[in-house]
Amino acid sequence: MQILVTGGLGFIGSHTALLLKEAGHDVVIVDNLSNSKLDVLQRIKKISNVDYKFYKADVTDEAKMKEIFARNKFDGIIHFAGLKAVSESISKPLEYYYNNVVSTLCLIKCALEYNVERFVFSSSATVYGENDSPLKEDMKLGLTTNPYGETKVINEKILRDVSVAYPHMAISLLRYFNPIGAHPSGLLGEAPNGLPNNLMPFITQVASNKIKSLKVFGNDYETVDGTGVRDYIHVMDLAKGHIKALENIKIGVNVYNLGTGKGTSVLELINAFEKINNIKIPYEIVERRKGDVAACFADATKAYKELGWKAELTIEDMVRDAWNFEKDYK
Ligand code: NAD
Ligand code: UFG
Repeated sequence: MQILVTGGLGFIGSHTALLLKEAGHDVVIVDNLSNSKLDVLQRIKKISNVDYKFYKADVTDEAKMKEIFARNKFDGIIHFAGLKAVSESISKPLEYYYNNVVSTLCLIKCALEYNVERFVFSSSATVYGENDSPLKEDMKLGLTTNPYGETKVINEKILRDVSVAYPHMAISLLRYFNPIGAHPSGLLGEAPNGLPNNLMPFITQVASNKIKSLKVFGNDYETVDGTGVRDYIHVMDLAKGHIKALENIKIGVNVYNLGTGKGTSVLELINAFEKINNIKIPYEIVERRKGDVAACFADATKAYKELGWKAELTIEDMVRDAWNFEKDYK
């Protein structure tokens, strides 16, 4: 299949583009480089020893996207492009709603006009709000605490409405849990612009002395050691999940959790990092971060039953690969 990968130079998109090629698909990447660098294109070419067609374009630019659809014959779309920093979304709500919603509207319009029937969307576990874990796909969605999360809820709703009006469309909503880790080559990983928002890149930047110490947001949650519990998933496993989702896509809207089903606390993640990489991570316990839930982990059985996919890599693999990327990253 020829697959359009929007946001394909970002963290998850770049790993997925690689695996799509490995699985024998043709890949066309569109990215506006708002949160990635062109250098990622060279890196994926180097790893796979093949070329990737790339357009520097904004997915909200309908005229430009139509041009790209007219020039290619896509069989499917994986839509990663989006802004994703929770705290930034609170201070810049308009940018987040515009970018994350208009990009999907543009893409769906193009898909309908150019008869592209497969559409895979990057959703998030954040749509479950404060529901109790393990989280299941058929739960009623929770209240989101920030504009970023709300854009995922809105996108899911738009895609469900599209499916009613255009029943020939095959749409997958993939709800990711907490992707971390990196490609085993060490060439590809998570390289956020500015100060990281998420725990794993924060830990690796403390390890490389870019940041002095880590702040652990709260140790008074009702969890195994009082710190927040999340379902960390290796980005390579997550990327594989996209290939399975695409190859097994069904008509209508289907929702899948992409997680491991296992929760790990902040302190457990720090300990695993220290043990595997033999580096001490200085940290201090501070106040809870607003909007955080105590625990968030998946019931990942549906993806296994319907797509034949399950996460295979461990927390040890994740912390090793994350550091392997960060330590040599320039
Ligand atoms: P990322 O920021 O690394 O990648 C997103 C890519 O999209 C970037 O390369 C950026 O330049 C590009 N982009 C953004 N807006 C664009 C636009 N309008 N036109 C073209 N390109 C655009 O993020 P990621 O971690 O790879 O996340 C990919 C998707 O998965 C996002 O939609 C994100 O919301 C979702 N998601 C991520 C996580 C996570 O923790 N990383 C969790 C759940 C869901
Ligand atoms: N944490 C710290 N210190 C930090 C950063 C995080 O203690 O410096 C803690 C948090 O309180 C939480 C855990 O580490 O308990 C994980 O936090 P992250 O910020 O790494 O991840 P979140 O679970 O808050 O959110 C992430 C993405 C969202 C996505 C969500 C669910 O940032 O976009 O996972 O998929 F929606």
